[in-house]
Amino acid sequence: MTAITEFVSYQAEGSVGVVTINNPPVNALSVGVRVGIKGGIEAANADASVTSVVIVCAGRTFIAGADIKEFGKPPQSPSLHEVIGAIETSSKPVVAAIHGTALGGGLETALGCHYRVADKGAKVGLPEVKLGILPGAGGTQRLPRVVGVPMALQMITSGTPIGAKKALEVGLIDEIAGDDLKASAMAFAQKVVDENRPLVKISDRDDKLQEARDNPAMFDEFRKSIARKTRNFEAPENCIKAVQASVDLPFPEGIKRERELFMELMTGEQSISQRYFFFAERQAAKIPDVPKNTPLIDINSAGIIGAGTMGGGIAMNFLQAGIPVKMVETSQEGLDKGIEIIRTNYAATVSKGRMSQDAMDKCMSILSGTINLEDIKDVDIVIEAIFENMEVKKEIFGKLDKICKPGAILATNTSTLDIDEIGEATSRPESVIGLHFFSPANVMKLLEEVRTKKTSKTVMASCMALAKRIGKIPAMVGVCEGFVGNRILHRRSEQSTNLIMEGALPQDVDRVLFDFGLPMGPFAMSDLAGNDVGWRIRQGKGTTSPIADAICELGRFGQKTGSGYYLYKDGSRTPTPDPIVEDIVLKASKDAGIERREISDDEILKRCIYPMINEGAKILEEGIASRPSDIDVIWVYGYGWPIYRGGPMRYADSIGLENVYNTLLEYQEKFGDEFKPAPLLERLVKEGKTFAEA
Ligand code: CAA
Repeated sequence: MTAITEFVSYQAEGSVGVVTINNPPVNALSVGVRVGIKGGIEAANADASVTSVVIVCAGRTFIAGADIKEFGKPPQSPSLHEVIGAIETSSKPVVAAIHGTALGGGLETALGCHYRVADKGAKVGLPEVKLGILPGAGGTQRLPRVVGVPMALQMITSGTPIGAKKALEVGLIDEIAGDDLKASAMAFAQKVVDENRPLVKISDRDDKLQEARDNPAMFDEFRKSIARKTRNFEAPENCIKAVQASVDLPFPEGIKRERELFMELMTGEQSISQRYFFFAERQAAKIPDVPKNTPLIDINSAGIIGAGTMGGGIAMNFLQAGIPVKMVETSQEGLDKGIEIIRTNYAATVSKGRMSQDAMDKCMSILSGTINLEDIKDVDIVIEAIFENMEVKKEIFGKLDKICKPGAILATNTSTLDIDEIGEATSRPESVIGLHFFSPANVMKLLEEVRTKKTSKTVMASCMALAKRIGKIPAMVGVCEGFVGNRILHRRSEQSTNLIMEGALPQDVDRVLFDFGLPMGPFAMSDLAGNDVGWRIRQGKGTTSPIADAICELGRFGQKTGSGYYLYKDGSRTPTPDPIVEDIVLKASKDAGIERREISDDEILKRCIYPMINEGAKILEEGIASRPSDIDVIWVYGYGWPIYRGGPMRYADSIGLENVYNTLLEYQEKFGDEFKPAPLLERLVKEGKTFAEA
């Protein structure tokens, strides 16, 4: 075997030249890999003993794409274009042997090969759009030439990969391998030689483009079909334009157009934020003071206390990951109802074709229930998901302490209560942790994990690993009121209420935040969640909020009652502004002696967003979150902060901390100390640093 570079080797095996890439963990196309592949192809072409070439990868996957860490740095030769060019123009047939995931530049490399053989579990796709860019090494020009324009548009604008079976059906791969991928690919290569098959250059193909040439309107139709999903994102539009170029221009011109469209995105703020977020998300899964090799608790069964909406949603995550769940309720009736809701939810998913009946049956077969807490004595993890009442929770944890086996994880789904105090209700506070799921718990990706002063490293590491298993994105935070997500949300809620007292209307605030990129504004969100929730909490605490209280006094609890801050006509979920609400708002201002004024969209945005950033800075100072990027992960996955703005902390860095700081000072003078800049923010501004550099 000849080492071409540190990451790529070449070996003649019989009449096949095998180029092996080994760049763990995902064989990303770093410069050493690019040099190596090109060198490997050249070596094979120069090697008289071989008649064909196979490109194969060591480790867990075929090439998973360009090396994202190299983005934004000066380019190093050879470019991926040159590498793919060398493959495509090889005088000996080149076959890609794909296992794991061939993504982005990985699939583009495979598309430069004359043939592709894939393992049956392999997936192939062009996920660049998720990084705010487009496939920049010919993917937008070659993919439509293989699978046709409609499918290429779908794959490139969604970034979602397809499995080997589908890839075979649409001609993206030529064969599904037997048990030994490399042997299958070598046999395939030999067959190409024996049968004198052509060296297929995808760049020369034209047949699959005809459909779009005959129907150019398909591009606009496609645009419309994805408009809602891709609102405000820049990359999908450039992806469409690039695919259109494959139809309208000869291949070399199409490649140039792809490059221009790629560069437009690459240097834009959206892509910088989305690439930042790629690493933020992966970093959030690592806790700075918990070593990588911390022993893990094996989690093979779960007990969930409370079969309400939250408990049921949490249970579904475990069931889908194949972890048996025992639900606990206080009455048989409540238990039956909870289990029935889970069944109904799954049945709805099956009827929409998003789950097989078989998968649903498997989930239901590992779900059981009990009204006897003792029955969960053997489970590996307990998650308590009952109503927010400290005394009741302490009582439950006291009982769990006596019932559960040693080492079991005792988790609470509380979103408001002091988990240190809950932990102290047991003799094993090191086993107690917060696992804060977001509603609907089977859908929302975020899992805010809350460590107490005593939670053990093993429990933290195990819960991080568990999150991945049940398809969640975790971020570890410390105990404080509202933890990270809701604590920041409260700052925004306060300001949105103040803004409507001072002169704006709910629809103004909501429109500004929606246009900023959030899925909905605070008033529409309150209508969705139920205005009565906050009302009852205020009643319990003896506090008031004039507008919100007046709305609830009219029974306007939100979507569920057909009206709230908005009207929802005939069961519709579309909010319509309502003059009654305007009257309530105007009256509340008048009663409070506030002279209403015109409030600009710019002020609405800054008043809502800057206090969130300021709160984030306080959270960092207090050590409640370990990194600014963890806060961003929480806000993107828990609250729908637009990923192309990176998260509140990344957004602050992108617009300049000094701007945020100066505006906060100005607001502090006008509106009071709630805007006082956090000391960390002040320090960073003085030092000329960003949050990322803090
Ligand atoms: N570049 C650099 N590092 C990468 C990487 C890439 N393309 N893909 C993954 N990694 C790193 C991750 O950051 C992570 O590092 P740490 O262990 O230090 O955190 C490690 O590889 C493992 O990644 P995951 O934790 O994500 O592992 P997984 O098994 O859950 O998933 C994967 C594997 C499906 C390949 C996933 O990593 C992934 O989706 N990667 C990105 C794929 C992608 O976007 N490719 C397109 C790149 S852009 C491109 O190719 C442009 C072009 O046109 C030339």
